[in-house]
Amino acid sequence: MILYGGGDHALGLWEAIQQLGLPFHGFFDDGEGPFVLPEEFHLGPYDSGVYASVPIIIAITDNVIRRNLSLRVKHPIAPPLIHPKAYVSPSASLSSGVVVLPGAVIHSRAEIGPHVIINSGAVVEHFVRIGAFAHLSSRSVAGCRSEIGESCFIATGAIIAPNARVGEGCIVGAGSLVLRELAPFTKAWGVPAKPQEMSF
Ligand SMILES: CC(C)(COP(=O)(O)OP(=O)(O)OC[C@H]1O[C@@H](n2cnc3c(N)ncnc32)[C@H](O)[C@@H]1OP(=O)(O)O)[C@@H](O)C(=O)NCCC(=O)NCCS
Repeated sequence: MILYGGGDHALGLWEAIQQLGLPFHGFFDDGEGPFVLPEEFHLGPYDSGVYASVPIIIAITDNVIRRNLSLRVKHPIAPPLIHPKAYVSPSASLSSGVVVLPGAVIHSRAEIGPHVIINSGAVVEHFVRIGAFAHLSSRSVAGCRSEIGESCFIATGAIIAPNARVGEGCIVGAGSLVLRELAPFTKAWGVPAKPQEMSF
């Protein structure tokens, strides 16, 4: 297994890889460092010829950067990396490049798209659908049959109510509650969440 990224998020994934007893080949990082992962594992900037057939996980929390890197990566994308202390229902469907961190729960028939991050203690309830490159931060909750669009960022402790819809590219602030619907590319927070001005 290779990680692309050597920062804080990569550290948690590296520890999961160790606890699962999977082989670890090193990490690519295009930056200068210093890195959070031990320097001895740094394979240099991304190079498609290094360990070319070894599966890779893009270990970057920023959804836009993760998406952009996924377009240039030539290595095979690893199957879902699930921390041994997470629960994933056998009927849930997880795409490649997904990571599930300690204490997270993914319930029956949930569908999780490629490169999604389900962070520590996040709960994804029955039949939830989550689009590619989304990030559910620690202790956030996606209620039953809710839908979260591609590249959404759901901050720490936010709750998406059962059956609610969050459009593509939305940002939901920490501790917020989305009761019904957010239009694509909306930034919102509060209880209930109110749309804010989006700056790009
Ligand atoms: C949604 C978020 C990313 C928006 O950030 P932002 O657009 O840069 O907004 P700012 O932090 O500049 O805050 C702007 C204002 O909105 C308020 N605000 C921001 N997020 C809020 C929230 N979730 N709830 C209530 N008020 C909030 C701020 O207090 C600030 O108010 P002020 O102008 O009176 O001081 C940020 O608020 C957030 O929730 N961060 C948490 C990130 C997180 O969970 N990371 C975990 C990764 S695992």
